Amino acid sequence: MITLKTKKIILGVSGGIAAYKSCYLVRELVKLGAEVRVVLTPSACEFISPLTFSTLSRNEVIVNIFPEKKVNTKTSTWHIDLARWADLFVIAPATVNTIAKIKNGIADNALTTLVSARRCPLLIVPAADEDMYLSQSNQKNIADLKLQGVYFLETEYGELASGLTGFGRMAEVDLIVEKIKSIISNSHKDYLKKKILITSGPTYEPIDPVRFIGNRSSGKMGQALALAAFYRGADVTVITGPTHLSYPSQIKVIKVKTADEMLDAVKKQFPKCHIFISAAAVADYKPKKVSPSKLKKNKTKLTIELIENKDILKEISKSKKRNQIVVGFSVETENEISNSKEKLIKKKLDLIVINNPLREGAGFEVDTNQIYILRKDGTLKQFPKKFKIDVANDILNEIKNLNE
Ligand SMILES: Cc1cc2nc3c(=O)[nH]c(=O)nc-3n(C[C@H](O)[C@H](O)[C@H](O)COP(=O)(O)O)c2cc1C
Repeated sequence: MITLKTKKIILGVSGGIAAYKSCYLVRELVKLGAEVRVVLTPSACEFISPLTFSTLSRNEVIVNIFPEKKVNTKTSTWHIDLARWADLFVIAPATVNTIAKIKNGIADNALTTLVSARRCPLLIVPAADEDMYLSQSNQKNIADLKLQGVYFLETEYGELASGLTGFGRMAEVDLIVEKIKSIISNSHKDYLKKKILITSGPTYEPIDPVRFIGNRSSGKMGQALALAAFYRGADVTVITGPTHLSYPSQIKVIKVKTADEMLDAVKKQFPKCHIFISAAAVADYKPKKVSPSKLKKNKTKLTIELIENKDILKEISKSKKRNQIVVGFSVETENEISNSKEKLIKKKLDLIVINNPLREGAGFEVDTNQIYILRKDGTLKQFPKKFKIDVANDILNEIKNLNE
């Protein structure tokens, strides 16, 4: 059983009727051994008293950015200290207003200020009237935050405070607790002082100034790895091809377009890292010639000659030091294990992650993946279909096990 003993959780509560349910949530988390610090928005105090939360959490509740008591210099930056203290930040209920502020990086109250300073995963549990919840802007804000790697526990269909029935009802407390347990089981800081280099996303190989050869990689697997490693304390650098994803400011992001640019960036960063995870879908081929002007549609047939790109993993394996760990990804649609074994040996990898995009819920564009992990000692492990952030944590666990 996953316990929450010694786990540090910030619970943010914003101004909705469902705020009363968060009292039960605090009670449950404290019962499971977690240390809980509650932060309320000023609107939340209209719905429930800070005293209720301080009694249940056995801790002082934060409402104001500027504490009333004059304090010394150290505690005046309480938001930074508290944000760094937490293993997990949960906002339940999260109003449409608070979600919009977080999406836009607004830090105008204690809750939103803490969110912007956090270094831990964020779980948002929205609650609102159906029309507010399903409004275009709210749905867009939620989608954008998901692209930043924020966890959501979607609302349920049911009776609402307005007396209407519909979507927007906050998830029940036991579901929130289960979600917290699943996220927190991987939030130990076991990668502190480790430098991890990750490549992510597709590469674009230009044909002419407006066209390119690309692939379906969304970069979500690489982003999940970067976030998981960052939350586990690592110093993370991501070299990414073109994607719509974003990263916390503490993660160093190097943007590239082509396979050659990615190789150059990896060559520069690789000597500085302890672990290199190559999750990018790098194009194997590129057009031999890039036309300086747009190719005209004046022929019935167009032939583009392709030449091979250099293989990044093979290139860096030449300079790999003994204490460096290199992890590759293998996308195969047939003979996935035997083909991946060959790659692992040829590219001198410590571990290879195998996925088959033809399997339901695996590979490119989707939020889930289903992988095998093959180690250089020949051990093969199969994992069930999971969200990419959980897959990322499985991969980080296996990397840790390499030294055991
Ligand atoms: C009775 C009442 C219930 C409300 N319930 C919700 C709610 O469940 N979800 C929501 O997004 N806003 C709700 N609101 C509106 C928010 O309280 C309002 O947008 C406020 O500005 C939110 O501030 P906050 O995000 O800083 O807490 C409610 C307002 C009232 C008067």
